[in-house]
Amino acid sequence: MEPEFWQQRWRQGEIGFHLEQPNPRLVTHWPALALPAAARVLVPLCGKSRDLAWLAERGHEVIGVELSPIAVTDFFREQFDPSHPLPGGSRCGNFDSYRAGNLEILCGDCFDLERSLLGPLDAVYDRAALVALPDPLRARYAKLLTELLPSGAQMLLVTFEYPQAEMSGPPFSVGPGAVQNLYGADFAIDLLASEDILDAEPRFRQRGLQTLHEHVFHLRRR
Ligand SMILES: C[S@@+](CC[C@H](N)C(=O)[O-])C[C@H]1O[C@@H](n2cnc3c(N)ncnc32)[C@H](O)[C@@H]1O
Repeated sequence: MEPEFWQQRWRQGEIGFHLEQPNPRLVTHWPALALPAAARVLVPLCGKSRDLAWLAERGHEVIGVELSPIAVTDFFREQFDPSHPLPGGSRCGNFDSYRAGNLEILCGDCFDLERSLLGPLDAVYDRAALVALPDPLRARYAKLLTELLPSGAQMLLVTFEYPQAEMSGPPFSVGPGAVQNLYGADFAIDLLASEDILDAEPRFRQRGLQTLHEHVFHLRRR
């Protein structure tokens, strides 16, 4: 997906992926990572997800990365009461950085991320990020995360799986086999949960899907 595809989605408010509540998979499965409160957590392709605030409330140092300035502004506007000043941006590599307490959003292209910008990461939370990317970009993104994460770092990864011929992405279908191909050489991978979610996601039935599974994976960098 070209950056302009996403910028346009945000300009036009086509953000069906956004949830008004913290993602239930995050709430249920994050404790399995058993991270200390001070852990540094990267949330790539974060949108204006409430999950950023949920992770920050746990005490983690949260770093979101998002292409769209609209998403970043909306996040802080919706997060704070109207009298609270929005955080100002400062330049950080190729990104504009917006910080409020222990939560920072880097606005820019995730493919410009470098270890020196992020500091030592303990974990990644990926919901609707890997699956947002088409095949060649997905492999590039997985390689990037593999390079950014030190040994021992963990990832909670949520993906969709469906017959790709039934619908063009995004989101793209990424099942356990694909996760193994992308990350298996460098991570130990556990499948924590799999659920048929089509009944709960009528928008995907309308797009032609007859089956849709959501998978939750726990990865640990070797
Ligand atoms: C499907 S949405 C998911 C957002 C969020 N993870 C959530 O759960 O609501 C994908 C997001 O990734 C952003 N995005 C796409 N490509 C990107 C890139 N190369 N760098 C940073 N953000 C990107 C889009 O603007 C969009 O907000």
